[in-house]
Amino acid sequence: VDRTALIAGNWKMNLDHLQAIALVQKLAWSLKDAKHDFGEAEVAVFPPFTDLRSVQTLLAADKLSLVLGAQDVSPHEAGAYTGDVSASMLAKLEVRYVLVGHSERRHGHGESDELVGKKALAAHRAGMVPMICVGETAEDLEQHGAAAIPLAQLTAALAELPADAEFVVAYEPVWAIGSGQAATPEQAEEVARALREALRDLRDDERAAATRILYGGSVASQNVAGFLRQPNVDGALVGGASLKAEEFSRIVQFKK
Ligand code: G3H
Repeated sequence: VDRTALIAGNWKMNLDHLQAIALVQKLAWSLKDAKHDFGEAEVAVFPPFTDLRSVQTLLAADKLSLVLGAQDVSPHEAGAYTGDVSASMLAKLEVRYVLVGHSERRHGHGESDELVGKKALAAHRAGMVPMICVGETAEDLEQHGAAAIPLAQLTAALAELPADAEFVVAYEPVWAIGSGQAATPEQAEEVARALREALRDLRDDERAAATRILYGGSVASQNVAGFLRQPNVDGALVGGASLKAEEFSRIVQFKK
């Protein structure tokens, strides 16, 4: 099965719109210089909401093959939800992927499995692809092993999505996020394989084989290839290292 690698850069709450434009320009030049083959690895950036319009305009004007992602979405369609941003607003900006269930939202903002599923559904209904983030804390790892919590989180999110909905899974052990202590490629593979196995039951063989499962948590240019070499790891969700054009460009051009 052909699962094109996906390298996703989550900027989190960094960069105003001017800094965003500068970063995307640098990244684009660097990838052009390197003649990056976007057929080999799809590259997506997830700027803060306030940067999306600027980045979208830049991508359209320069015909850049970078894809746009959003870091969150409202579960509601429209109306009296102060501070929320709707899925249709994001879709209008040519956003393709939407992060749902990132650990910083689950743990920092108390988002439940159910809410994560509703956000995934909102993204799907607007024609975008939810990137469902799952991962265990250090405590979970000790108590339940690596795969149990990610499996439960994925199961809950998929319960809200129609059977034919496309989605991406991002496995991010919470202890590896922003810690400089990435999982080993073998640890990532073990959970990715368990998640793909589960997708056979939760969906079907075809969907399980076609769904991309990314690893995230302290990914850098020095370790990315090790993850991508694993049979069930189809890409990376990169935080800190996606804020530096040269480093992110090296990550994107990983050689297995
Ligand atoms: O969404 C990205 C992840 O939370 C990983 O962040 O690469 O800074 O560890 P990090």
